[in-house]
Amino acid sequence: MSEESAGTPDTLTIRDNRTGKEYEVPILEGDVVRAMDLRQIKVNDDDFGMMSYDPAFSNTAFTRSNVTFIDGGNGILEYRGYPIEQLAERSSFLEVSYLLLKGDLPSQSELDAFVHDVTYHTYVHENITDLLDAFRYDAHAMGMMISAVSALSTFYPEAKDVQDPHNRWIQINRLVAKMPTLAAFAYRYHRGLPIVYPENELSYTANFLNMLFRIGVKEYKPNPVLERALDVLFILHADHEQNCSATTMRVIGSSEADPYSALAGAMAALYGPLHGGANEAVLRMLHRIGDVKNIPAFIEGVKNREERLMGFGHRVYKSYDPRAAIIKRTAEEVFEVTGRNPLLDIALELERIALEEDFFISRNLYPNVDFYSGLIYQALGFPVEMFPVLFAIPRTVGWLAQWQEMVEDDEQRIARPRQVFTGPRQRTFVPVEERG
Ligand code: CMC
Repeated sequence: MSEESAGTPDTLTIRDNRTGKEYEVPILEGDVVRAMDLRQIKVNDDDFGMMSYDPAFSNTAFTRSNVTFIDGGNGILEYRGYPIEQLAERSSFLEVSYLLLKGDLPSQSELDAFVHDVTYHTYVHENITDLLDAFRYDAHAMGMMISAVSALSTFYPEAKDVQDPHNRWIQINRLVAKMPTLAAFAYRYHRGLPIVYPENELSYTANFLNMLFRIGVKEYKPNPVLERALDVLFILHADHEQNCSATTMRVIGSSEADPYSALAGAMAALYGPLHGGANEAVLRMLHRIGDVKNIPAFIEGVKNREERLMGFGHRVYKSYDPRAAIIKRTAEEVFEVTGRNPLLDIALELERIALEEDFFISRNLYPNVDFYSGLIYQALGFPVEMFPVLFAIPRTVGWLAQWQEMVEDDEQRIARPRQVFTGPRQRTFVPVEERG
């Protein structure tokens, strides 16, 4: 192609200044070019060809997806096209789960059937309790959960048949149903309390609260405001497109590992303080600050890069995280019942000061989903070790929706990135006694 040529529409013309050659590559839906189209760019015929270099996948679309849409610049989050604000206000966690997993909102009979199936899959094999018994008394609940979920794969060996849609759906139901049971068992173990088994008459979140907190009474009636608040938190955490843990789920799943093993890996990714462990880190940070008067010194420390303001910043959101706005409102409703969490004043003041500081404004750092969620969890009576678990329960739905989409996508193969090798080559081995 000549230099004057404008190229055809919806293509990108790349000129390799090493050779003077030009290449025209298609621009696909979503303003993307296929990385494989770069491979034709070579200096010599026997070159490997050009690749793109993108540590941390900052500008790489790893998949096409129709599950969750985020517009980070404008603070928009939609599940299957429905704005998160509407779902949080008008739907329930299991209805949203159905939406994420199936693509559309259920009819009443579809919802009833799904709720029934999830409700009747909540028990876990008794040997799982023996497994949990093997942990040290102070084991972190997330570590216990990761092990327990991974162990479930040995109880359901048929889950390996990931290409069978019916089989997949059974495992999906099991995982959505059993996560609260495992979480509650881990919590009771931690507290030295006897296990409370699932109750089928209760809602998803009421059953969870019952398994966690029932002590010494035959019937446990959760406060409806708190039950609903937990359901809303579950809706808000259900999916968030190609984040670190969803990508882990897809990568492990791409080798056709069973969904329990893949999900254990996704949970491990979530556990880190830069991802789902941030809610725990926020609470520890607020405790450490301890008083509103200590905030200016803390902010100075953040600006001097001595530490991070946990619960702030996001790879995708460059404005207010819409989930944080809903959580802030939910927190007020919860505190009407439980009494105000004294750490809220520190959090509100931190946010106020941070949003006025150039350091945060210039970097588009706003509160994310984890900034206020921990305050609610604490008011509900959860210890901080349970916070990432409370993220993992609803996110299980998102991981499974992403996994299912990946398995059904004909374009996907085993995930296998490339590297730019920077180490030494062709060295000659010298025995240890001759190395000097
Ligand atoms: N406190 C102070 N500075 C920050 C923070 C923060 N929380 N987050 C980002 N920055 C700064 C960072 O130092 C960098 O500055 P510079 O360009 O001068 O070097 C700039 O902002 C860009 O940050 P980054 O680390 O390159 O951004 P990233 O997209 O790689 O990281 C993040 C995103 C969420 C890991 C990061 O913002 C962070 O560590 N936040 C605190 C942990 C947190 O709250 N995580 C929960 C995320 S939301 C829930 C979830 O999806 O898991």
